[in-house]
Amino acid sequence: MTKKLDRRTALLTLAQGGCALAALGVGCGGEWREAVVLDLPPDGAACPGAPLPGTAEEGWVEVRLADHPALQAPGGHAEVRVPQALLDVVLVHTRPGCFVALWRICTHGDCAVDWLPSEGVMECPCHGSRFALDGAVLQGPAQRALTTFTAVRQNESVFIYRPR
Ligand code: FES
Repeated sequence: MTKKLDRRTALLTLAQGGCALAALGVGCGGEWREAVVLDLPPDGAACPGAPLPGTAEEGWVEVRLADHPALQAPGGHAEVRVPQALLDVVLVHTRPGCFVALWRICTHGDCAVDWLPSEGVMECPCHGSRFALDGAVLQGPAQRALTTFTAVRQNESVFIYRPR
């Protein structure tokens, strides 16, 4: 089931069993429920409650949306590698103005995990471990969560905090 979103009202879908991508209108299985989400940020604004990004010296890595057009719309994602910042993440635009950055290397081994947008999870192609948007292990054999990083939109960029 797909429903149309406007700026002030979004569908919050809470699939039975939990689905982290509530406002995206993605099918997560289970039943749909609706809720009103107030105070969505205007276009280009940061997620409500997000911190202000700092400088590169403080560990903030700029990711230009122009370099990753798939990130422009909620539901989009991109694999972002910035070797000089030791950053290798999947960046997911979860709802308007809100982003999550998850470390891309599986905690069970060295395989790169993939984001499955239709299910709202990260999955490792090597042995099938699955991780939630907050990095928590949903399915082994991995036993440790994926590291997540604060990601904040500011104008036409997303800044990821990668402390060293
Ligand atoms: S390396 Fe990812 S599940 Fe084994």
